[in-house]
Amino acid sequence: MKIDILTLFPSMFSALTEESIIARATKKGLVDIKITNIRDFSTLNNNQVDDTPYGGGAGMVIMCDPVFKAVESVRTSNSKVIMLSPSGKIYKETTALRLSKEKHIILLCGHYEGFDERIKSIVDEVISIGDYVLTGGEIPAMAVADSIIRLIPGVINSESLRSESFEDNLLDYPVYTKPREYNGLLVPDVLLNGDHKKIDEYRNKERIRITKENRPDLLK
Ligand code: ADE
Repeated sequence: MKIDILTLFPSMFSALTEESIIARATKKGLVDIKITNIRDFSTLNNNQVDDTPYGGGAGMVIMCDPVFKAVESVRTSNSKVIMLSPSGKIYKETTALRLSKEKHIILLCGHYEGFDERIKSIVDEVISIGDYVLTGGEIPAMAVADSIIRLIPGVINSESLRSESFEDNLLDYPVYTKPREYNGLLVPDVLLNGDHKKIDEYRNKERIRITKENRPDLLK
């Protein structure tokens, strides 16, 4: 899969591309991530990319021209263009699964007061990662890219993808490792006796308990 990220702050993405699982997936050739600076497509003085909003109001709005040109520079016939914005549809694991099957994803990160609305005419989907406002679309783009890349076959072992949070609308079960006792805190006995039927039952019960406690909305 190819992922193009269009941003005004390219250096933020070293956190995504240079560490851990995503860096390994890149080395293995399972994903190809390219970061493009939208500012490089400005034709104005000082590489200006934003201006004041028509109708007044606070902040600056990202202009059409550099964004149209940046998107055109990376777009092909099978690209999916995704804008990150708090006004988008809420991102879920099911969205990640659907997008992990695409060949080419373009993630468009906004900053300031947002994008000129006409930019939506070249966008396929607008995605929000939650009901809160960040200073820009860079962290949301990293969250979206990370969640998609880990679902690409070969990136992490398929055993780890089974029975994790959100599968069957349930959160994940709790896990423990050595030592068996830490400062008086114990590992549940059921995990120590090797009875896998009992362990599965315990883990399923825990998934339901934790989901009821933290995300009752998922059980509806
Ligand atoms: N940009 C700022 N806040 C955002 C959010 N919650 N989701 C996506 N993009 C954003």
